[in-house]
Formats: sequence, structure tokens, C-alpha cells
Amino acid sequence: MDAITGPFRRLVTPWVRHPTVLGSDVAGEIAAVGGGSTRFRVGERVVGYAAGQERLRNNSEEGGFQRYVTVLERVCAELPDTVTFEQAAVLPLGVSTASAGLYEKDQLALPLPTSAPSARGDVVLVWGASTSVGSNAVQLARASGYTVIATAGRRNHDFVRSLGAEAVFDYRDPEVDRLIVDAIGHRHLAGTMAIGGGALTHALRIAGRTTGTKNIASAYPDPLTRLRSLLARVRGIRVTSIWGGTPVQSPVGPAIFRDFLPVALRSGAFRPAPAPKIVGVGLEQVPRALAALRKGISATKLVVTIPAEDITP
Ligand SMILES: NC(=O)c1ccc[n+]([C@@H]2O[C@H](COP(=O)([O-])OP(=O)(O)OC[C@H]3O[C@@H](n4cnc5c(N)ncnc54)[C@H](OP(=O)(O)O)[C@@H]3O)[C@@H](O)[C@H]2O)c1
Repeated sequence: MDAITGPFRRLVTPWVRHPTVLGSDVAGEIAAVGGGSTRFRVGERVVGYAAGQERLRNNSEEGGFQRYVTVLERVCAELPDTVTFEQAAVLPLGVSTASAGLYEKDQLALPLPTSAPSARGDVVLVWGASTSVGSNAVQLARASGYTVIATAGRRNHDFVRSLGAEAVFDYRDPEVDRLIVDAIGHRHLAGTMAIGGGALTHALRIAGRTTGTKNIASAYPDPLTRLRSLLARVRGIRVTSIWGGTPVQSPVGPAIFRDFLPVALRSGAFRPAPAPKIVGVGLEQVPRALAALRKGISATKLVVTIPAEDITP
């Protein structure tokens, strides 16, 4: 479950028209097909990014926290029977934000993922890899052929390694920057995904001490990141701010949700991560789930399920 709520909402999405429906992650069965789409059929199992709060959508029919959600075909993916709706619901915003940072032309602009990638040898650093965005960034970067070096809290190191990271370091370790620079060694750093408090500070230090593109994509699209981006430029480091909804309008959306995810989920090359934690049944549980989210989570995504009788027309 993800939604921009609280005082930040006015700052982050000032364009949102009211009344609105929040929520960006949904999985379920197709109830109806419109807009000339021929890719999906009624009854098909899918996962999709609910883009209602995106500036160019701004449409309550496309908000996630409701029984029937209009999802754009370009950010919707077919689900294999092996993946439950609860597992799939962790994906959309995490995948979209990670893809925006890794693949958009004005971000790290890495080559798109495939289910059978060839190894490139270069390294992608994912700072904050146990977050929902980071878990997806690790798997996507691997599927683009990169070696991944990551950070996470100590208890999540095995989890991040299981996603394909070569090495994982504790972001709280005072020596973490040196350890990462040593781990990268003579290899090129193809880019850094900077996720989590303090990530950009560390990413700047590491980019300054390694060879490679010196590109950093920050998960914080705020004025401070823009200022630090200007300051970093004089050191030859390029810092960009990710907007997780960018793939809704760009070629990256269909490249990931139509071309990559369905095949990779079916083959098991890509797995829904982090694991879902079911916190309630019924839309009335959403506020409770958002309150739990605000208290903080670790390597999980909170999911509310909708009882079948609630969605029978
Ligand atoms: N720009 C955008 O459009 C966009 C979109 C979505 C999210 N975001 C931002 O991206 C970040 C991640 O979002 P999310 O929903 O994926 O997060 P999340 O899953 O709710 O994050 C929880 C995780 O954060 C990790 N964490 C806490 N402090 C950290 C730090 N200082 N450094 C690294 N990791 C840390 C924890 O790791 P451990 O438990 O392992 O310690 C925990 O697993 C958030 O700050 C969010 O605001 C931005």
C-alpha cells in the first residue's frame, strides 16, 4: 500500500483535484475493458499502477483505494497463477519508481531489463535496498545485467542478497562508504539509486571515490536535492530527482509493465518483493494501514484485501 498523505501531500502533489481517491498499488481481476484496449480480457488476473494522483491524470476513477479502479493499459501487467494478488500488490509504485530512476532518459538511463540478461561487469549501487523501491531496483538492475552492491539494515542482508545483490552493507555502519568503495574496486559504477534518509550524502562520497558515470538518481524530488545537484555538478557528479509516476507517460511504463514483468513473473526471473503483510480486510481498514505505514516498516509492504462479496456488481 502506498499513498501520498499528510502535510506533504500539498507539497508533493499540489495539483490534486478534490474529492480524490488515494492509493497507487492494485491487483485483481479485470471487470471491464475500455478505451480500445485489445490486450486484456474480462476476468484476467492483473497488477497495475493506479495513476489517479499523477499530474496529467488527476482522476479519482484511477485512485487505488476503491472497489473498481481504472488502470491504464501501459502500466498494467498480466499475472501468472503462481503469484497471488496480495503478493502482486506490493509491486506497482515500487517497480515504477525503481524503473523511473534506472531507465528514464533523464535519470540513470540504463539499458532495459530482460528475463535472460548478459552480465555487463559494471556495478549499480542501490542504497536503501530493503525498501519497496530498493527491492525492485535490485532485481531490475540485475535483470539489466549489472552487478548490484546494496545497503540495508543488518537483519535484511540475506533478503537483499536473495534478490541478487552481490554484497550488502549496513547503512548505519560508520565505515560503510569505505567498505562500498573497496567492494566496487576497479569496476565502473554505472549509477546509484539513493533511497532513504542520508542516502544522497553517502552516494556523493562514493561517486567521488569510484570510476564510472557518476550519475545518482535520488528518490527525493525536493528543493534540497536540486540544490545539492547544482553543487555536485562542479565535482562532475550528476544528481537527478526521481518522480515515481514518470513511467505512466513515458516509454519506460510499457517497456516494464507490458514487455518485462509478465514474462519475468511467469518464469520466476522476477519475484514480487518485499513480502506483503496483510493488515486488514475491507476498504475501511485503509486508514489503519496508513497509520501503521507512518510508524515505519521494514522489508515489507502493507496490503489490505477486498472481500469478494464487496466487488460483486
Ligand atoms: N520520488 C518518488 O516518486 C518516490 C516514490 C516512492 C517512494 N519514494 C521515497 O522512496 C523512499 C522509499 O520508499 P518505500 O515506500 O520503498 O519505503 P519503505 O519500504 O516504506 O521503507 C522501509 C525501509 O526503509 C529502510 N530505511 C530506513 N531508513 C533508511 C536509511 N537511512 N537508509 C536506507 N534505508 C533506510 C528500512 O530498512 P531496514 O529495515 O533494512 O533498516 C526499511 O526496510 C521513501 O523515502 C519514499 O518517500 C519516492
